[in-house]
Amino acid sequence: MFKDERITTGMPGLDKLINHGFIKNSVITVSGGPGAGKTVFALQYLIEGIKNDENVMYISFNLKKKEVFQHIMQFDYGVDLDVIKQRMVIIEYPPSEIEELLKRHGAIREMLDTTNTTRVAIDPITSFVYIEPDSNRRREQLYSIVDNLKHWHVTSVIIDNDERFDILEIPRTITGIEGFSDGYIHLSYLLNLDKMERRRGLEIIKMRGAPDDVKIHDIKITKKGIVLADNKRQPVKSKSSK
Ligand SMILES: Nc1ncnc2c1ncn2[C@@H]1O[C@H](COP(=O)(O)OP(=O)(O)OP(=O)(O)O)[C@@H](O)[C@H]1O
Ligand SMILES: [Mg+2]
Repeated sequence: MFKDERITTGMPGLDKLINHGFIKNSVITVSGGPGAGKTVFALQYLIEGIKNDENVMYISFNLKKKEVFQHIMQFDYGVDLDVIKQRMVIIEYPPSEIEELLKRHGAIREMLDTTNTTRVAIDPITSFVYIEPDSNRRREQLYSIVDNLKHWHVTSVIIDNDERFDILEIPRTITGIEGFSDGYIHLSYLLNLDKMERRRGLEIIKMRGAPDDVKIHDIKITKKGIVLADNKRQPVKSKSSK
């Protein structure tokens, strides 16, 4: 039987849930609120590629190049910063220039080809919604971004912010790009009223080629990045056991 080639995410706990990683050449949306761990997710995913000797591209609409490296240095990913600098191309745009991303399709493709890049992260795509207020045109352009990424032989993570949603409803992104993506992962940061603290969670809203998973998985952001808690329950001892 034909099996999709898989790309490990850098989060072994997540790989386990989705058949050993993202399908090669797929586009995955990751969203969450402020501080939910979106940038950690994106960079951890790219650095996993660097660990496998891949070249990667980070298209940044939020952090400047220097800030990206500062972000990386807060963590211990087990790769030298020099190696990361050699293998990670960072393209930095102010949010107002997201249109450039569309105009420069050709240039980006050429850069991906010449550097033999296999992983791309765009963080975040959110400001697109303010640049192109016409929702029909926006849909067409978002579709075109996703479609291009798929044909560029890269596996991509697109970060977006959450649209406001009722906690009982399915989360949505500001741009709606999850509708065109092969997978959609939501990072939550929910209030636990009993303890008066927040709890971080990861939920697979959809994932092509992976088994259905309806749980919100506990995650922690540690020095090693995002770690999924082992959700295996302790076996309950039966009354008769000694
Ligand atoms: N070394 C570290 N160890 C543990 N946690 C860390 C470390 N460095 C940063 N963090 C935590 O990771 C959190 C998430 O950061 P991240 O930049 O990924 O958020 P984000 O979802 O991208 O936020 P934004 O919406 O502002 O872009 C930070 O708020 C911080 O609490
Ligand atoms: Mg961020």
